[in-house]
Amino acid sequence: APDIPVADVQQDLKELQSLAEANGGNRAHGQPGYKASIDFIKGKLDKAGFETKVQEFDEAGGTGYNLIADWPGGSADETVMAGSHLDSVESGPGINDNGSGSAGILEVALAVADAKLEPKKHLRFAWWGAEELGLVGSQHYVDSLGDETKKISTYLNFDMIGSPNAGHFVYDDDAAVQGVFKDYFKEKGIETETSSEVNGRSDHASFAAAGVTVGGTFTGAGDTMTEEQATKWEGKAGEAYDKCYHSECDDISNINEKALDLHTDGIAHAVWQLSS
Ligand code: PHE
Ligand code: CA
Ligand code: ZN
Ligand code: ZN
Ligand code: ZN
Repeated sequence: APDIPVADVQQDLKELQSLAEANGGNRAHGQPGYKASIDFIKGKLDKAGFETKVQEFDEAGGTGYNLIADWPGGSADETVMAGSHLDSVESGPGINDNGSGSAGILEVALAVADAKLEPKKHLRFAWWGAEELGLVGSQHYVDSLGDETKKISTYLNFDMIGSPNAGHFVYDDDAAVQGVFKDYFKEKGIETETSSEVNGRSDHASFAAAGVTVGGTFTGAGDTMTEEQATKWEGKAGEAYDKCYHSECDDISNINEKALDLHTDGIAHAVWQLSS
């Protein structure tokens, strides 16, 4: 898999920050900053040759949007998906939560296009709406698929991959998918853990409940880093992984660039490996 330039991911985050600033300070469901974020990501994917579609749904008196992007080719009966929620909470611009995952999978998708990748399996990327209202967009998508969910071999989820006081967590849902990520981090000399913060709390849960194999990585939310973790991850013990979690200060300065780089390259590793 290619090395994704972290500067490109940061550039996307700057754009998401600008879109929040131009739209009342957030990118939340039902707010103009959310739709502007969808349009920005869709524009880049369309230009790169993806087949995109926007799925609309109604929630809490507002229109929600999921963005689905298919890379043409591969066996559609074996689809590998990577997804991230694109909505923020109303209190801030949502750059770590979840501009980070959204920009990470975007740059991996663009790298797939750059490489003119011809994977054996079909590749699909997705940006979910209204995750912060209870995994609403991803649940709507899974419901809309019905029997077609059987064609998804793996769903990979990325929600918060640039936490300032970063942990390195791998979802423990499926042993084989977990192994793909653990191999990657091992090559990089990084120890990983599973996280009790993850369980059922992001969009992979919509897929897991429908029987789809899921996995993902995470750098931590509002929980506190232990002494032991601080030693192995060169972090700050007794501080939250993300002290700006769901706050106004979750802005462009709330990103650990090393973690963002490491986890984005990990997404590329898994996408290349699982789709081949
Ligand atoms: N889904 C949570 C949020 O968006 C955070 C989270 C990310 C939880 C990843 C678990 C795993 O606020
Ligand atoms: Ca990189
Ligand atoms: Zn959140
Ligand atoms: Zn989130
Ligand atoms: Zn590798």
